[in-house]
Amino acid sequence: MLTGRNILLGISGGIAAYKTPHLVRLLKKKGAQVQVLATASALKFVSELSLSTVSEASVFNDIFESNHDDRSDRTLHITLGEWADAMLVAPATANTIARLSAGFCDDMLSLSFITLRPGKPVLLVPAMDGNMYESASVQRNLSVLARQGCHILEPESGPLASGQCGLGRMPEPETIADALEKVLAVRSESALNGKTVLVTAGPTREKIDDVRFLSNYSSGKMGFAIANEAARRGAVVRLVTGPVTLPTPPGVERFDVESADEMLETSRQFFDDCDLFIGAAAVADYRPLAPVSGKVKKNEAEMHLRLIRNPDILATFSAGRRAGQIAVGFALETNGGLDYARKKLQDKKLDLVAFNIYDRRTSGFEIDTNVLTLLNRDGQITELPLLSKQEAAGRLLDTVETLLFR
Ligand code: C5P
Repeated sequence: MLTGRNILLGISGGIAAYKTPHLVRLLKKKGAQVQVLATASALKFVSELSLSTVSEASVFNDIFESNHDDRSDRTLHITLGEWADAMLVAPATANTIARLSAGFCDDMLSLSFITLRPGKPVLLVPAMDGNMYESASVQRNLSVLARQGCHILEPESGPLASGQCGLGRMPEPETIADALEKVLAVRSESALNGKTVLVTAGPTREKIDDVRFLSNYSSGKMGFAIANEAARRGAVVRLVTGPVTLPTPPGVERFDVESADEMLETSRQFFDDCDLFIGAAAVADYRPLAPVSGKVKKNEAEMHLRLIRNPDILATFSAGRRAGQIAVGFALETNGGLDYARKKLQDKKLDLVAFNIYDRRTSGFEIDTNVLTLLNRDGQITELPLLSKQEAAGRLLDTVETLLFR
């Protein structure tokens, strides 16, 4: 998996840096090209000469240093981000984690992190004292980076430099190399790697007046699981979501909307650019014809709401799409059979429909599991067992990948 891969290895200044020449040798032995980017404090723990010798390349640190001339490249900070297939930061100290999460870019490590091409994987290997690792600041910064799509290899427990025993040890180079291979493997095997995916998720809210709306029980879990899985497979993912309380999956670009109209207008901007559109949102079919400004008073015994049809986002995409763009929809029913899903496949001219019965126990809104039946445009039916929504997302995307290949 590492053969011929270009790896940027960022080393920051923790005691575990002493293991990094061994890590470089291991990555090279597996066939990777390694470019070391060390912080100034890393070079107090491990020598530049050792690192340049084992990596067979200059070690970069200062963005203004003259040793960049051996690549005769004045914009090295940008070209490195393009050159790399992946970036590994080991050890990642509390300081470097904070700097990366805040977007600092005053040395080669932080600068290359920012200029790394979108979609390229980053694996961070935090290593520090256990109390530091568990501090609110480090955990907050790591969660920011995880939301940006960085993979994080958890530190191990064991003897620490402080003399104490606990969480914070950097895993051995072999474990780090294995983790990097895994991160690269998922992507390179996937037909979604490098593709652009648009996902709608969650409910929509349709205003009755300024304080009330019509909506449904959709939690967004299925759509978020799909977005998460597509990003993990290396896709550039845009997620347009109605109001939900879920965190943004790592590496996913999220757009929050409220109404069906807003969902259509936001999604429409990305229609041309996507290879795959998955409509997992539970879009309200109707909206109040004339939302009232302010608050409707409760004077009358009865109140009548006039509703009009909302636009169909998936059908709009499907009708206007280019050849090769794939459209996938969901069909959620409280009863009835596959015929309804089949009709939806035909009416909206979809490539795939995921059909599920809303039984409130194992399948449908809010819960974490789903039982999906997949129907594709060739009439093939795949019945999936009871799965977590994350696993169901994986199986759905496996099927979508077979469509992308054709
Ligand atoms: O027609 P129905 O609502 O049952 O179709 C469900 C599928 O169509 C889902 O994939 C849903 O996200 C999508 N849809 C849409 N816009 C609508 C209604 C449904 O994109 N207005």
